[in-house]
Amino acid sequence: MRLTPKHTIWIKVVIHTGHIFAFVWLFFAVSNGYLGSDPVEPIIHFTGKAAINSLLITLLITPLVQQFKLGALIRVRRLLGVYTFVWALLHLSSFAWLDLALEWQLLGSEIIKRPYLIIGAIVWIILFLLTLTSTQSMQRKLGKKWQQLHNWVYIAAILAPIHYYWSVKSGIVEPIIYLMISFILLYLRRQKIKRWLNIKMAK
Ligand code: HEM
Repeated sequence: MRLTPKHTIWIKVVIHTGHIFAFVWLFFAVSNGYLGSDPVEPIIHFTGKAAINSLLITLLITPLVQQFKLGALIRVRRLLGVYTFVWALLHLSSFAWLDLALEWQLLGSEIIKRPYLIIGAIVWIILFLLTLTSTQSMQRKLGKKWQQLHNWVYIAAILAPIHYYWSVKSGIVEPIIYLMISFILLYLRRQKIKRWLNIKMAK
């Protein structure tokens, strides 16, 4: 099958609709008490899961393009990446706002105190930088450095499931599945990652 630009527009419509549906569902579930009388933890969990799911789906695009020669699909990668950051932003905001009542000092000390939050913060910063530089004009401006910077998504892909694994008190099966999916997605790009790491070591 050959994907045309028209198909990618439809895929983008589906992505937008799916995300809008998820935002509306979350709002509706909280307002109607479906997430319990204290929905703070479920909100943090929902947004964290949505962020990691979006991240892994974003990383699935390139292997799909290469395996099935779906060149046009690459156009939806940036959109999925931006949504990943939107979820990560909601995740951090719900923790900072609903759990810590926007006490920034407390947020800082909580992050420093708990290694799993330091890892989450590193992933968050990587996603933030990738989103900031995701436009075509930034890509032109940064030249070769753009690819170097965007390779950091591989670090985020490994650290995000580690943050998840470390955050759970019980039920480690799911985070381990996420970690395995991450490894598979990175294994599929092992040549590129090897080249990147060699360049980094040589510097
Ligand atoms: C500064 C950044 C971050 C902070 C402060 C943070 C904070 C938290 C907190 C407080 C929890 C709940 C732990 C508990 O239940 O006790 C959590 C869980 C989680 N976070 Fe983060 N996080 C951050 C970044 C991220 C990012 C960037 C991702 C994904 C890309 C992510 C994905 C997750 C996931 C998947 C969970 C587990 C959800 C579940 O158990 O269902 N987090 N995070």
